[in-house]
Amino acid sequence: MDKFIIEGPTPLNGTIPISGSKNAALPLMAAALLGDSPTTITNIPKLRDIYTFNNVIRVTGTHVDFNEEEGTLSIDPANLAHLEAPYELVRKMRASFYMLGALLGKFGQARVSLPGGCAWGPRPVDLHLNGLRAMGAEIRLEEGYVIAEAPRKMEGGSFTLNPSSVGATINLVLASVLRAEKFTINNAAKEPDVVLLCTRLLEMGADIEGIGTDTLTIRRVNSLEGVSIRNAADRIEAGTFMIAAAMHPESDVTLTGVDVGDLGHFPKIFQKTGADVTIGDDTIRVKAPEKLNPTEIKTQIYPGFPTDLQAQWSTMMTQASGASAVTDTIYYDRFSYVPEATRLGADMKVVENTVHVTGKTPLKGASVMSTDLRASVSLVLAGMIAEGKTDVLRIYHLDRGYEDLEQKLTAAGAQITRADQDA
Ligand code: EPU
Repeated sequence: MDKFIIEGPTPLNGTIPISGSKNAALPLMAAALLGDSPTTITNIPKLRDIYTFNNVIRVTGTHVDFNEEEGTLSIDPANLAHLEAPYELVRKMRASFYMLGALLGKFGQARVSLPGGCAWGPRPVDLHLNGLRAMGAEIRLEEGYVIAEAPRKMEGGSFTLNPSSVGATINLVLASVLRAEKFTINNAAKEPDVVLLCTRLLEMGADIEGIGTDTLTIRRVNSLEGVSIRNAADRIEAGTFMIAAAMHPESDVTLTGVDVGDLGHFPKIFQKTGADVTIGDDTIRVKAPEKLNPTEIKTQIYPGFPTDLQAQWSTMMTQASGASAVTDTIYYDRFSYVPEATRLGADMKVVENTVHVTGKTPLKGASVMSTDLRASVSLVLAGMIAEGKTDVLRIYHLDRGYEDLEQKLTAAGAQITRADQDA
């Protein structure tokens, strides 16, 4: 297993390109299975989760070709015949559960492993299953698998997501477009990943009303065609680098290839830190403030502050002068980075679902590790401003979600090397 060795502190300067989004790509890949002809998706990042999902899709007999140099994925479902997503793959990545909606929608049958545990807290799939039942599918659980069946035409009906869920919205959309006479999803997710999926499904021939609102109405169509589509830029990667840039007073970074419209309220909230933010058509420039302001933040569904930036934000607040509070209202215990950041010198305390951060504290290098993607990257951000050497272990998780992370940060002035942690 690999680790990062980070020497700090270093400011970040220059340009950092933003990669295609993992969380937007995965639903588009699942949607490709619904088409009667091949789909091509560009701007696909080279990430472990993408390779895993390629393999999940291949199990079904679908032909997947990933041109890594161009970042282009071609998915041809002509030979899709095996309607299963096995535990060995699904346990590696929760989003494999999108196979349930895609296979059920296209073929009326699916056998998909339950995703199992996660690096933080419970992440249930009750809304996915109850939503499919409300649509008219038969769902039973057998030996850790979801067995789903649906007739050619389901009447549909409606289902209210409580709480709103990105994954459940995606699964219900995938299952209904070819099968439900009329199905309404109330309190549907409006995250850009959902909007992109629905818009692309429209291009494939689907009938979906209310895209971008919290009520989606889907009416069955007989068939969908494959299309050529472009994946969105990664809004969480962009937010992560904006935060990284604000943490060192000498940093001045321009992010390129950003889908600015996908960032919701984040850039506005970010300005509360005192950082100087300039937004272009597809660029964001962040000049760090001399003194970071403390903030009170609550994660919210889109367009609010994303939970996927919560760990990075708390870490940034260790450098703000005063008391900050960061509350996660989406996941109540996504704080595995706190004891690790504390080892670097952070003053953080978790009370219920809030991290209280007192700053400004100097950080000092140490060995740290995490088993969660966003927690891991927050430790990299801390390492870049910590005095001395920080080892971030188990960066396996970073490779799931940040393309070329050390190359991008090193090109902007960081000192990060990858090494075998067991050597
Ligand atoms: N929930 C339920 N029951 C369900 C499904 C969800 O109670 O059946 C709850 C969850 O426990 C949570 C809330 O609903 O409290 C929202 O979870 P959601 O279903 O929206 O999350 P997800 O679809 O499983 C996606 C992203 C996550 C991101 C969340 C929230 C992907 C592949 N994953 O997960 O991204 O944190 O939405 O925005 O798109 C990451 O990239 O690091 C990551 C974890």
